[in-house]
Amino acid sequence: MSRGHFITFEGIDGSGKSTQARLLFDHLKQAGKDVILTREPGGSEGAEEIRRLLVEGNPDRWSGETEVLLFTAARRDHLEKTILPALDRGTTVISDRFADSTRVYQGAARGNLRSLVDTLHDIAIATEPDITFVIEMDPIVALKRGLARQSGEDRFEDMGADFQRRLAQGFSELVQSHPDRCKRIDGARAPEAISKDIQAILADTL
Ligand code: ADP
Ligand code: TYD
Repeated sequence: MSRGHFITFEGIDGSGKSTQARLLFDHLKQAGKDVILTREPGGSEGAEEIRRLLVEGNPDRWSGETEVLLFTAARRDHLEKTILPALDRGTTVISDRFADSTRVYQGAARGNLRSLVDTLHDIAIATEPDITFVIEMDPIVALKRGLARQSGEDRFEDMGADFQRRLAQGFSELVQSHPDRCKRIDGARAPEAISKDIQAILADTL
């Protein structure tokens, strides 16, 4: 049996990742594919518990270094319990965020912690997606969309517009440094148009 494909969605808060991950999941499911939809931080019981520590509360609740450790711990559990078992049984895995989020949020935008992020990734995760869709959106529009949800999970949105701009820059650099894996997607269109684009790129690539 062949190993499943590992697909991730990345971008700033409110860029439309969850919407697109869900639309792709529905599309592949309708096409009869064996597929699961998961998310980070979270995606396994233990990682969902760690998620609450990360996304709720004051922006200065954790230092950047502590965040890297918590996100990596959550990712390791997600990988062990959900992602790797699914890929091994031939299931396609779609994850709403993965390691690129730590590279950009903690490694670039939140402080210059990229070497800590990369070292921990190599030791504890050492897995990359087959393809990553990076949804690009104007940071201010995305911030408004994200905060309008009133999810109670706005610790990162509460870091403000400058932080969102640094994130957008970080994701743009990520695409440049991984041109084969990362596909830039214009998020300022109707959800269905974006989804068609993603389906076409996926069919061409995998
Ligand atoms: P993310 O997962 O990146 O934070 P979501 O998919 O949750 O983003 O979308 C954030 C908000 O924007 C939601 O209220 C969603 O309904 C809305 N939204 C998502 N995609 C679009 C789009 N292409 N155009 C307009 N609004 C959108
Ligand atoms: P998410 O639920 O995807 O938020 P949103 O739907 O607003 O995009 O992720 C929660 C927050 O955690 C989000 O602000 C991004 C942040 N985050 C990191 O800072 N580093 C990480 O490694 C991950 C996975 C998420």
